[in-house]
Amino acid sequence: MVRARIVGTGAYVPERVITNYDLEKMVSTSDEWIVTRTGIRERRVVFPDQATSDLAVEASRRALEAAGVGAADLDLIIVATLTPDMWVPSTACVLQAKLGAKKAWGFDLNAACSGFVYGLWVVDQFIRAGGARRVLLVGAEVLSKIVDWEDRNTCVLFADGAGAVVIVPEDGERGLLGARMRSDGEGWRMVYMPGGGTAIPPSHESLDGRYHYLKMNGNELFKVAVRAMEEVARVVLADCGIRAEELDLFVPHQANLRIIQATAKRLNIPDEKIYVNIDRYGNTSAASVPLALDEAHRQALVRPGDLVLMDAFGGGLTWGAALVRW
Ligand SMILES: CC(C)(COP(=O)(O)OP(=O)(O)OC[C@H]1O[C@@H](n2cnc3c(N)ncnc32)[C@H](O)[C@@H]1OP(=O)(O)O)[C@@H](O)C(=O)NCCC(=O)NCCS
Repeated sequence: MVRARIVGTGAYVPERVITNYDLEKMVSTSDEWIVTRTGIRERRVVFPDQATSDLAVEASRRALEAAGVGAADLDLIIVATLTPDMWVPSTACVLQAKLGAKKAWGFDLNAACSGFVYGLWVVDQFIRAGGARRVLLVGAEVLSKIVDWEDRNTCVLFADGAGAVVIVPEDGERGLLGARMRSDGEGWRMVYMPGGGTAIPPSHESLDGRYHYLKMNGNELFKVAVRAMEEVARVVLADCGIRAEELDLFVPHQANLRIIQATAKRLNIPDEKIYVNIDRYGNTSAASVPLALDEAHRQALVRPGDLVLMDAFGGGLTWGAALVRW
């Protein structure tokens, strides 16, 4: 049976570090509040001249090198992002040009923080249908440019980064074993950016009204996220006939340490099998799962044959889980 297998991972975060103590000087917050409520200690933020594709290209080069695949051999590029460089063209096309991936075609995928996991499922469809053989899947975000740095409810959470994987078809037991994606549009107001699109195009009024920044109902999201991530993970494990105890590594979206721990507890996954890096990077939305996956892989926490469960939740609402045999 042909499966989509990840054969290389890469990640990149901007050099600039913003600690909780830096934030104490900007909004009414404290390191103690942020650490106990979210698990975040510091995050990475771009310089003004850096855009999402600048982070994506570095992560992609590292993933291609790890995979031993040349950019010229890629046939599909998907960039999961909610912070594209611009409206038109897609960040995937900008990335294609920067990489020199002349034979590829590509597009952006917006499923907010679930974008990378959605992307895995999309790539799997192309691979199994024979439509693609060398795929670059990237999750990349510059959330610092759509965060309201005067709003303590959001500015302490979101940050910038990129992660990438190279995926190829392979016959056998390794690769994507199963995945399920969900969305519930009824909840779209729980996290959204009202301005800049066709609903509220840019205007002096939209700028004055701060419509070009993320708005979030964190408390509501928290409750839904834990339930949703648990449910979809359970279904994927059942689909694949795998028990939670058999998992080698759980790589959840890094939105809040308490969400991660509550979800893992409900799934009976012990702490030592959860990969956590939210303390260093905050919530990097679509970049968070591939960034964590790359770190875990480079630390040899993922070995051939290991069962790795990825699980994400985000705006839309969207959520999904994917199980891989490494
Ligand atoms: C945002 C989040 C950290 C808030 O934690 P919480 O425990 O739910 O806290 P609450 O929202 O109930 O707020 C508690 C208090 O802290 C205050 N507060 C909020 N942000 C604060 C900050 N940065 N510093 C200090 N106090 C803060 C609130 O104003 C509130 O004060 P009040 O009780 O006087 O009204 C948490 O709800 C969360 O992580 N939600 C999910 C977010 C998410 O996943 N978003 C993206 C989708 S992927």
